[in-house]
Amino acid sequence: MKRVLSRIIIASGIVLGSSVMSFASAAAVAVAKPDLAKGEQLYANGDMARGIMSCASCHGAAGNSTIPANPNLAAQPHEYIVKQLNDFKAQGDKPAERRGAGGADTVMTMFVAALTPEDMANVAYYLSLQPLDLETAGNATNEATMERGQKIWRGGIPERRVPACAACHSANGAGIPGVYPRIAGQFPSYIEEQMKLFRSGDRANEPMMHHIADRMTDPDIAAVSDYAAGLR
Ligand code: HEC
Ligand code: HEC
Repeated sequence: MKRVLSRIIIASGIVLGSSVMSFASAAAVAVAKPDLAKGEQLYANGDMARGIMSCASCHGAAGNSTIPANPNLAAQPHEYIVKQLNDFKAQGDKPAERRGAGGADTVMTMFVAALTPEDMANVAYYLSLQPLDLETAGNATNEATMERGQKIWRGGIPERRVPACAACHSANGAGIPGVYPRIAGQFPSYIEEQMKLFRSGDRANEPMMHHIADRMTDPDIAAVSDYAAGLR
């Protein structure tokens, strides 16, 4: 396990970079150019004829959710959004790689069923261009765990070989286009829940995040989730 993680960390830049590139070029073949207007239309209104509910009804206007259970999606890299929408889908006989606690379906499981690759590319492109609304974005609220959270974000937990979150999600939590999602401004409870789902393996769509979360205690996760939400 230790060797696996250090290998992953050393190789992550190269391995991830190349896998994301091949993913991006595969998407580019399927969908030449995302359509911003169609993405906005689908996001705001859904498509009742095809049984697609409005995304905005849960994720808020222009991707700025006001309900912590529903993550905000504005300013998230479009490649990341497309990947998540695919990962919520079961692939043939294989269960979806992104599931809820205990392997249960997530709220998204049924919504992604009707989405075509074009829908995904369009809506992801639209969302990636929306600014995060700082009025509604998540924020840090726990003064008592701030220092611990900051330490983990910036320096990881060396004695347990947990790498610094900032190394991938960037110092200000904005993520890196095409590679790493934005964490800044996400809701603390959502971040915490996802860390626990990575740890349990119910969210099995990213081995690296599983190995990282697997070395963290509940208080580690709570502290860094609260801190990360407050980054700007
Ligand atoms: C009924 C509410 C609801 C609707 C409607 C809905 N979502 Fe979601 N969405 C959620 C919830 C809740 C989650 C968190 C799922 C989890 O915990 O894994 C989520 C997660 C996501 C994620 C992953 C975000 C991340 O940071 O990893 C994406 C992307 C997403 N939704 C896009 C969409 C799109 C696009 C639509 C419209 C086609 C949509 N959602 C409709 C509730 C909703
Ligand atoms: C080696 C790179 C790397 C490091 C270090 C890293 N992450 Fe991640 N993280 C990723 C990648 C890649 C994803 C996207 C996973 C996917 O495709 O679902 C991700 C996803 C996430 C998500 C899910 C976001 C969402 O919107 O659902 C959270 C939360 C997260 N990371 C938190 C952290 C925290 C906290 C740390 C530090 C303890 C950390 N990460 C360290 C690469 C990394």
